[in-house]
Amino acid sequence: MKPFIKFFMLTLLGLSACNESVQEATVNSPSGNNLLHFFLDTEGTPHYFVEHNGTRVIDTSSLGFEFKEWPALRSGLTITNVQATGTDETWEMPWGEQQEVRNHYNEMRVSLKEENDEERSLHLVFRMYDDGLGFRYEIPEHEGKEEVIITDEYTEFMLTGDHTAWWIPGDWDIYEHLYNTSRVSEIDAISKRDHPNLASTYIPENAVNTPITLRAEGKQRYYLSLHEAALIDYAGMTLKVNENRPGFVSELVGSDISGYKVKRSLPFHTPWRTIQIADEAPELIESKLIVNLNEPNKIGDVSWFTPMKYTGIWWEMHMGKSTWDFANTQKGGETLSMEDAKGTHGATTENAKAFIDFSAANNIGGVLIEGWNTGWEHWIGFEDREGVFDFVTPYPDYDLQEVVSYADEKGVEIIMHHETSAAPRTYEKQMDTAYALMQKLGIHSVKSGYVGKIIPKGEYHHGQWMVNHYNNAVIKAAEYQVAVNAHEPIKATGLRRTYPNMIAREGLRGQEFNAWASDGGNPPEHLPIVAFTRMLGGPIDFTPGIFDIKMEKWKPENQVNTTLAHQLALYVVIYSPIQMAADLIENYEGHPAFQFIRDVGVNWSQTDVINGEPGDYVTIARKERNTGNWFLGAITDEEARNMELSLDFLDPGKTYTATVYADGEDAHWNENPTSYSISNREVTRQDTMTISMAPGGGVAVSFIEKTE
Ligand code: NOJ
Ligand code: CA
Repeated sequence: MKPFIKFFMLTLLGLSACNESVQEATVNSPSGNNLLHFFLDTEGTPHYFVEHNGTRVIDTSSLGFEFKEWPALRSGLTITNVQATGTDETWEMPWGEQQEVRNHYNEMRVSLKEENDEERSLHLVFRMYDDGLGFRYEIPEHEGKEEVIITDEYTEFMLTGDHTAWWIPGDWDIYEHLYNTSRVSEIDAISKRDHPNLASTYIPENAVNTPITLRAEGKQRYYLSLHEAALIDYAGMTLKVNENRPGFVSELVGSDISGYKVKRSLPFHTPWRTIQIADEAPELIESKLIVNLNEPNKIGDVSWFTPMKYTGIWWEMHMGKSTWDFANTQKGGETLSMEDAKGTHGATTENAKAFIDFSAANNIGGVLIEGWNTGWEHWIGFEDREGVFDFVTPYPDYDLQEVVSYADEKGVEIIMHHETSAAPRTYEKQMDTAYALMQKLGIHSVKSGYVGKIIPKGEYHHGQWMVNHYNNAVIKAAEYQVAVNAHEPIKATGLRRTYPNMIAREGLRGQEFNAWASDGGNPPEHLPIVAFTRMLGGPIDFTPGIFDIKMEKWKPENQVNTTLAHQLALYVVIYSPIQMAADLIENYEGHPAFQFIRDVGVNWSQTDVINGEPGDYVTIARKERNTGNWFLGAITDEEARNMELSLDFLDPGKTYTATVYADGEDAHWNENPTSYSISNREVTRQDTMTISMAPGGGVAVSFIEKTE
């Protein structure tokens, strides 16, 4: 469908600007459910508050900046103009949770000027949606000033109560923390420093990272999620817990090298500061606020990227069955000969072919191969990681060209792997060569990685310098028709709308922690929290589908803390245009439940979030783009749950064969995780379905349309 755009003037409730006595303006969302009130106090400091259906949900909060060698912009301001516009457009996702997205908002642009000799200007732009709002600062040109250095941004998000919060610490370096549940006043991010299983942490303040999701439990129950959209050429925003009244104030990630937070030449604007507002938790997941606040596609056609499932030479390294490095120095420290090394190195031509065969035979589009290039012997533990990987030279037992040709013959795509070991300067030097090699070979996606402390020391994963690195890598990759799935990434802020080759990212405690974390792995509540927090930012490369839950053979000390049916449900619950079937091939061969992974889609025309509560459970149904088949996934935390679901999401007038992959009656994430059952029945949208989930369990259902 062709996008259409309609502009119209708004009816602003009580808009009164350009009037010296009243320095305030308000704007509502299209349906009028959300209302933003902007005002200047007697000091000329900008403030806002937000109401949802008449209830105040964001309390009076102030806005402003401090700069290096330039006076603060936090007071002494006056409103010079207020402009109101609106947009109602529909745009198409090249791949996504749904095909068409409505972008419907009212916008208010407030122009402010200092009442002093400097007469600096500042604009605040508010976009009001029915599912929340975004606002950003615009700093225009200023005579005699080329660039500004921001030492602090003071954006407050004050709350009207001490809500329940699902949060991770505002770590400048890593995002792979477990989520915590507490009252806002009880957030203690500092206690999360120095986690034994994290490659790097730096938590300078009692701050959280975003998205942070909140539930107000007073007279009126509602949900909020605070985040940012379109994080470009700016530092990532963490939120410092306010001390006197419940709320947060922005704390930008800094740099020990530059000593500041952000440097920008004028004019510029900040990323959007976003507030999702919902009466029920499922609406948070259905909201498209974050992508809508991003610019439309700037790279054109991306049909060279196909959403796909993939297998890979990956879990076997995390299991300790094989190694990334050719010479097995990770195990013993000594360099082995080619002969001796054989059998320990995972990425061999032979092993890659086995994965290609398996993918081809099982309706899986891709194969990821990690540990294929030289450099892995110097990886973990080496301070000087600069110049270690070259991204073009395979180990002697891996014939890249042969693997690619073989995959081609079988109709399978190879997924490239670039572990930068957090040495972005080395990567930047080689990006063109590396992506050009991929283009020559016809490889259209890369998984990149940034494990460890950033080199140079003093830069952080979430600072402006790295934000630019991550974004530039994606923009450059697009020139070579390469799509990027970054691990240890900057958080997702909806840039996939602008750069749809930004396909997925890790940016959470992924499945791999279950393979080796010394803290017992991800608890059963992990993904029921992730669905309402991290997933609001965008697609997640979680790598689901572990069937060998207890890993007795390889990792008897570790396990996955869910049932097998829960693992299947993740293909639907966790959204990504690439979904790994992560387990070892031998754990899938001949396994009846693997049929669900064979069948399940990865690209959707529609998504229905049926129910859910953060940290407890969530049920999502999605309709596959090309086939019209529906898939449903439900997961629960450590509580068993029964529920009756209406199947009214199914298409009218159609009959489907529903295949239900459920927890066995005696299933339990710890006692009996692999107990499951498979059953079939015919259904239509008039039917209901009773589902039972074991503790740590789930259910996955495929609804395949019946053709006579
Ligand atoms: C961490 C990534 O998350 C993981 O998936 C990968 O296998 C290792 N780094 C090695 O690059
Ligand atoms: Ca990781």
